[in-house]
Amino acid sequence: MDRVFLFALFSLFLVSSAVDVIDGGGDDPLIRQVVSEGEDLLLHAERHFSTFKVRFGKSYGSQEEHDYRFGVFKSNLRRAKRHQKLDPGALHGVTKFSDLTPAEFRRNFLGLKRLRLPADAHNAPILPTNDLPTEFDWRDHGAVTGVKDQGACGSCWSFSTTGALEGAHYLETGELVSLSEQQLVDCDHECDPEEYGACDSGCSGGLMTSAFEYTLKAGGLEREKDYPYTGTDRGPCKFDKSKIVASVSNFSVVSIDEDQIAANLVKNGPLAIGINAVFMQTYVGKVSCPYICSKHLDHGVLLVGFGSAGYAPIRFKEKPYWIIKNSWGENWGENGYYKICRGHNACGVDSMVSTVAAIHTTTE
Ligand SMILES: *[C@@H]1O[C@H](CO)[C@@H](O)[C@H](O)[C@H]1NC(C)=O
Repeated sequence: MDRVFLFALFSLFLVSSAVDVIDGGGDDPLIRQVVSEGEDLLLHAERHFSTFKVRFGKSYGSQEEHDYRFGVFKSNLRRAKRHQKLDPGALHGVTKFSDLTPAEFRRNFLGLKRLRLPADAHNAPILPTNDLPTEFDWRDHGAVTGVKDQGACGSCWSFSTTGALEGAHYLETGELVSLSEQQLVDCDHECDPEEYGACDSGCSGGLMTSAFEYTLKAGGLEREKDYPYTGTDRGPCKFDKSKIVASVSNFSVVSIDEDQIAANLVKNGPLAIGINAVFMQTYVGKVSCPYICSKHLDHGVLLVGFGSAGYAPIRFKEKPYWIIKNSWGENWGENGYYKICRGHNACGVDSMVSTVAAIHTTTE
């Protein structure tokens, strides 16, 4: 070995450690700001609570309720700090859910039920994965409607379902039509509990594959504007068959393999997925990749794409992630979206994926 080689090796080491410093989360000014802001938040909790109330239009019925919520808010600030440590690639802090206990959050804003797979669900055929792009986003191809808001109703499953069918319908017809969650919330509970264990049940939760099965049997979904969302499940089913705009042709379950998930996404449109949402209560932005996260699936969302960030040329340290459309309004996360790392089924993101195909229907 000659000296030139050793010198080259040494310079490479120097350059790569320099890159490490640039790339390291601890030196990212944005993260530093949020982390120190996090400490600040606890010191000035009262002021931050006032800002929070104004920003999210919160008001409480009594002084007692107000004081109780302030206590919850403070404990969520501590939780956000813990999440920041466990999930350093993302930003955690104050969100619209900062005055809710974890149990209230789970009860009112999630709603994924693990039901038995319906009879018409198939396994998705294995697709070729050799020319998958490194980045892909269905939003760039016009297949995704605006971010919606489920409100305080455990109907996430209905938004995941409409999102997937909106995409499939767009691929089939070239038309992007926003579809009705309320139809699913009001009408999709006529399954046979003997056969399925339990049924979709409006604000009390449901499952995307059973909602695809309902949609297949019912004939299709109405437009959002013909059957608008109310966020409650106390009303009767007002489904009008003559207003069907999108119908299911068939639907399948995708295997847990990440390349298969990506291939199905690119071929069939956005995918309905389940995820564990515990880190999402405090999520503010960037790529979430918790060191420890439960794989217990409690939230239904829509996978719309994938990308990679933090690319460093020397060490090829790209960090691939999934792009997820949520149903908590645009004032949550990154304009309503969540990013989570790919590569190890983080928070169970790869373990419940389904895809749907639409039939071309015409209405006037
Ligand atoms: C629908 O069925 C066709 C034909 O069997 C199959 O190739 C396709 O993958 C299925 N699509 C979905 C989304 O299940």
